[in-house]
Amino acid sequence: MLILITTFLLIVQSANNQVRNYDDVLNYFHSKYESMVLLENAVFQTGVNDPTSRNGEYPVHKVQVKAFYIDRYPITNIQFRKFHQAKPHYETEAEEVNFSYVFGQHMTPHQLSRSKPEEKQPGWYEVAGAQWNKPAGPFSTVRELLSHPAVHVSYNDAFAYCSWAGKRLPTEHEWEFAARGGLDGLLYPWGDRYLKMRMNLWQGKYPEEDKKYDDWAGTSPVDAFPAQNNYGMYDMLGNVWEWTSSLYFDRVIDRDTQPLRYVLKGGSFIDTRDGAYNYVVRTANRKGKRPQYTSSNIGFRCAMDLSEEETLARLHASTKPPRPVRFHKKSDMYQHRKENEKKEDMEHFEL
Ligand SMILES: *[C@@H]1O[C@H](CO)[C@@H](O)[C@H](O)[C@H]1NC(C)=O
Repeated sequence: MLILITTFLLIVQSANNQVRNYDDVLNYFHSKYESMVLLENAVFQTGVNDPTSRNGEYPVHKVQVKAFYIDRYPITNIQFRKFHQAKPHYETEAEEVNFSYVFGQHMTPHQLSRSKPEEKQPGWYEVAGAQWNKPAGPFSTVRELLSHPAVHVSYNDAFAYCSWAGKRLPTEHEWEFAARGGLDGLLYPWGDRYLKMRMNLWQGKYPEEDKKYDDWAGTSPVDAFPAQNNYGMYDMLGNVWEWTSSLYFDRVIDRDTQPLRYVLKGGSFIDTRDGAYNYVVRTANRKGKRPQYTSSNIGFRCAMDLSEEETLARLHASTKPPRPVRFHKKSDMYQHRKENEKKEDMEHFEL
């Protein structure tokens, strides 16, 4: 009993020491959210077996990914803040044009009255001065949202961040492979059953009221829910859409006539389980946006190639299983067996 109490006190004490001041808290979150997962070479099934899907999820087909690292969490505000401090002259695209798209429910009445509703997207507003550190417009901050995903970042901003971090954006296939967690062909990262406490989606009548059956309206901390799959990936589905480095094309029209767009994956807090409003949230789903587009429900995470040393070390370490020996004639088989027996005899002799 005494040992238990002492251990407990020691743990409390070290926890206290760990979070002594603001910088320590920041460092703790930096190291936590910068964690990456290494995924091996693989072939997997992309897409969903739903012929009614119009945006390229159908048909299911096999694709290959080479070993890569991917961020366990989406990039949080705390990380984007570090980028901003390291690159004070970098202007995000939302800062350049001095506006971004914000979902109305997260704005003050004052801000709402000064913002232009989006005609094509009910519930959304074009907000002057909305940017990553003022996510709901000029008078908002990210002070309380440090572990939430960074939003109002364009493809170009996401690209700039990942380059600065010595990383890159994941391809669509890498993203989807990481999300599937080894469960090929299933709807969600954890299986085929919808579970409301695994991701942040829209519940209720859109855009009037998110009933928050999952506890959250708007963005949530990237670790508000447990890891979504066996690879330990967090927040792949729900919360915010994530940029990938893959080009998006509509299937119906000639590719050459289409504007430049990149694939986004994962769905967001305005998307739904069944697609009653906005997008159906499932691992296969995808959409395309132009590289300058920013909004309060789009973020990103980074990926990374293995270093040359790592790749070489792996080549050396991999021992190929022996090839099965095929014999065309019975006599060959007997010959082979005899030789093996001889070899075994020699080995015994040497022992
Ligand atoms: C950006 O928009 C805000 C909010 O309307 C405004 O106060 C500010 O002056 C604008 N900045 C520029 C550079 O136009």
